[in-house]
Amino acid sequence: MGSQDVTNAPGVSAIFMVYGLNEGEEAKSAVKDLCGEFAAIVRSMRKRYPDSNPSAVFGFGAEVWGELFADEPRPKELEVFKEIKGAKHTAVSTRGDLFFHIRASQMDVAYELASIISAKLEGAVYHIDEVHGFRYFDGRTIIGFVDGTENPENDDAVSFGVIGDEDEYFKGGSYAFVQKYLHDMRAWNELPLPEQEKVIGRRRYTDEELGDDVKPANAHNAVTNITDEEGNELKIIRANMPFANPSKGEFGTYFIGYASTFSTTRRMLENMFEGSPAGNYDRLLDFSTPVTGTLFFVPSWELLEKLAED
Ligand code: HEM
Repeated sequence: MGSQDVTNAPGVSAIFMVYGLNEGEEAKSAVKDLCGEFAAIVRSMRKRYPDSNPSAVFGFGAEVWGELFADEPRPKELEVFKEIKGAKHTAVSTRGDLFFHIRASQMDVAYELASIISAKLEGAVYHIDEVHGFRYFDGRTIIGFVDGTENPENDDAVSFGVIGDEDEYFKGGSYAFVQKYLHDMRAWNELPLPEQEKVIGRRRYTDEELGDDVKPANAHNAVTNITDEEGNELKIIRANMPFANPSKGEFGTYFIGYASTFSTTRRMLENMFEGSPAGNYDRLLDFSTPVTGTLFFVPSWELLEKLAED
C-alpha cells in the first residue's frame, strides 16, 4: 500500500485522461465505487500482464474534492491552479475534475486499463482531454533532448514526490500538475544545434550539461533549478511524455510533475513564465505553448479506499 504509482519511471506508453464530473448523486457514487475498486483493477492488470509493468494514478481536481468528499478535510495545497501571466507567455489554467495517468511498456496494455476505467465511469463523467504518449528513442522529448535526467531517485524520489509525516492525514499523497504543451516544430528545427543546446542547457546527443560559462540564464534547466533558503536543491518527479499527430502538424510534450508540495512546482513555473529576476523567462517557451494547466491531488492507496466510503 502507501502511495499510488507516482514515483515510477515515465514508461514506454502512457495515457493521460482528464474528465469532468457530471451533476447528480449517481455520478458521485460511480466515482466513489471506482475509488473502492481502483487498487483491485490495477492489481488485476499486473497479474494479467506481469511483463508490461502496468500502473495507474487516480487524482482529483480542487473543484470536485469538496463536492465528492464533503466529510473529508481538503489537501492543504489543493486549489484551482492560478494562471501565471508573464510578459510574453502564459501558463493557462484549465478545468479538470478527475485525472488518470496510465503507464505500461505496451500501448495495448495501457489501453486495456484505460478502457476498463472509462467503462466504470460511463455516464458519470465527460471527456475533457486525452493524450497518448510514447517513449521516443532513448527517452527524448519530441524536440530531441533527453528528458528526466535530473529527476530525483530512490529515497529522494519519495521525499520530493510523496507527502510524508509533515502532513499525517494526507501522508502517501502527492500533488500532480499537468500541462499539455504544443511545440512550434518549424521554428525549433530552424534553430541551429548550438542554439537549441542553449535553450535546454544540455548537449543534444550526449545529454551532457552545459558548463556555467556557456549556459545562459534563461536556459530551461537554469530557470527550473531552484533551492530552499539553505541552498538545498528542490526537485519534483517529472514523467513527461512526447505525443504527436504529424498529419495535423501537432507535436507536443505532456508535462506531468508530482510533488510532495505544490509550492515547489509553482515556483518552477513562475521562474519559467515570469522569470526571476522578472523578464528572465524560459527560452523554451518561445517554442512551446501550454494549452492546458491543471492541479490534481493524488491520495494514498489507503485514503483512496476510505474515500469510497465517505
Ligand atoms: C515543453 C515542456 C517541457 C519540456 C520539453 C521539458 C524538457 C526538459 C529537458 C529536456 C530537461 C533536461 C534533462 C532533465 O534533467 O530532465 C528538463 C529539465 C528540467 N525540467 Fe523540463 N521540460 C518541460 C517543462 C517543464 C516544466 C513545466 C517544469 C516545472 C514545472 C520543468 C521542470 C524541469 C526541471 C526541474 C528540470 C531539471 C533542472 C535541473 O537540471 O536541475 N520542465 N526539462
